[in-house]
Amino acid sequence: MAASTIRNLLLCVCILAKPTRGTVTFHMNNFIDVLEELETHLAASSMLAVIELLQELGDCASDDFHRYVLGRPSAPELNLPSQAKEQKSLIRLLMKHEVGPSTENGVVLVPDGTTVALCPLISGLEAGLKRNRDVPLPDVKEVVDHFESLTLKDGVSSSTVDNLYSATIAKDLGLAFFEFQENKTQTAMGPDGCWDDVSMPRVFTLLGDPSPVTNAFVNGALDGIILGHYISEGSKVRTPRRISTLGSKVGTPSRISTLLKDYYNNDGVAADMTLRSNFRRKNFLKITSLEKLEKTVKISLILYRTIMNISFPGSEDKEEGNLASNAVQEFHQFFLECPAIIPRCMWGARPFKGTPTLLTLPLEFLYIHHTYEPSRPCTTFPACSADMRSMQQFHQKDRGWSDIGYSFVVGSDGYLYEGRGWYWLGAHTRGHNTRGYGVSFIGNYTATLPEAFSLELVRDNFQKCAVRGGKLISTFSIQGHRQVVATSCPGDALFAEIKTWNRFKET
Ligand SMILES: *[C@@H]1O[C@H](CO)[C@@H](O)[C@H](O)[C@H]1NC(C)=O
Ligand SMILES: *[C@@H]1O[C@H](CO)[C@@H](O)[C@H](O)[C@H]1NC(C)=O
Ligand SMILES: *[C@@H]1O[C@H](CO)[C@@H](O)[C@H](O)[C@H]1NC(C)=O
Repeated sequence: MAASTIRNLLLCVCILAKPTRGTVTFHMNNFIDVLEELETHLAASSMLAVIELLQELGDCASDDFHRYVLGRPSAPELNLPSQAKEQKSLIRLLMKHEVGPSTENGVVLVPDGTTVALCPLISGLEAGLKRNRDVPLPDVKEVVDHFESLTLKDGVSSSTVDNLYSATIAKDLGLAFFEFQENKTQTAMGPDGCWDDVSMPRVFTLLGDPSPVTNAFVNGALDGIILGHYISEGSKVRTPRRISTLGSKVGTPSRISTLLKDYYNNDGVAADMTLRSNFRRKNFLKITSLEKLEKTVKISLILYRTIMNISFPGSEDKEEGNLASNAVQEFHQFFLECPAIIPRCMWGARPFKGTPTLLTLPLEFLYIHHTYEPSRPCTTFPACSADMRSMQQFHQKDRGWSDIGYSFVVGSDGYLYEGRGWYWLGAHTRGHNTRGYGVSFIGNYTATLPEAFSLELVRDNFQKCAVRGGKLISTFSIQGHRQVVATSCPGDALFAEIKTWNRFKET
């Protein structure tokens, strides 16, 4: 009896010590900290051994499809000290990806204000570390027959599949569209979501109907592909002599935790400020051809079906081709052409006062503004969010408006911030608010211009996205605030710049 009491007591202590959802902060820096401790325990092990351990703990790549494209774990079993137990259960909790009806698990908030699923990120790193990215296809008649009927171009061999793409996004994207087509899901991609508390994130609630490829999943996959590509390219150019410089700012960092720290914490990998999570959409397009992605989606679907011995009703070769083409086209428009927009819940918006008015879409105008005050461009998520809150406060309290006036606001951190958004009437361009969107650059652009990437975000991405999404008519016009209201906004320098844009219209 005494023994069982003691055992029960011990059991209680164990359960209390074990991290649970309610006590864990779902932040990338928390994941990186745990990973760093784990890597310290495993100092002698390779990066790949650590990645394989993560994959196992997160139950990320355990199905036959993943094991086929990534290969069986190649590293010897790791001998973790018993202190590492807690880190292991923490990693399990952080990584296991599950999309429920209204919440998503296995995702973490990253410092730039976006959210990332860890499984596709780690799968990309595994593919990158294994270097040999082109995996031969199995010698199964069905697969071989399919591939003989495919005409593949540039750099895509018909007998292999690039596992950097198939293990991260390609199969899941194809399956998501397949399930959508079969009416098994309400939506094929998305949505984004909101954390309960940005400083102590615990619960991630989705902003709409769930699909298997949520925004967080796509963010994780894009980051996994970018970093996996970086690792595998780095390894090709690295000479044995330079391996000794690993861990410095030159070459590939020797630890996953270092690589992730640089990528997610505003430093940039190898001090390259463009190699950061803030620019994932742009960086993904730099290394990926959509044609190749489409082929990979198609191949991955066929491979998945064959390996998992699942027959998709009515999935003929031609249909899979259509499915892949459709999936990649929509993925491109939704995630690569459109700018990433930080939703209101993430910058801490107060509610709209009163009842908002719906816009009648599509609109004819895009009005360009600068905020003037704040006059300093914001370059991080906390700084841009604070600017958004102070502008909303000013517009609501001092001006007596119902909300922040602008439709969207442009930070110098690579993101757009949602003001009134796509659907609601704004208060940005007096007398013209029903006719157009008001987009404002944070800063004073009287004498200087916003960063080139911020200009590009509006000049290229926002415009294309708005037209394709039916928000702006295809023949819409761009004007500066000063053309319709007596003001110096958007500043002499920015006004001179937008005069060179295609859709600019003189008054
Ligand atoms: C899915 O739903 C649409 C509209 O209700 C219907 O036309 C279509 O046939 C359905 N597809 C399948 C595969 O059930
Ligand atoms: C594949 O599935 C079919 C029917 O679903 C079954 O008859 C067949 O035995 C399965 N093959 C293997 C190798 O499991
Ligand atoms: C905006 O920039 C102009 C030109 O540099 C300067 O004269 C003005 O004082 C600035 N205004 C603010 C609020 O910073």
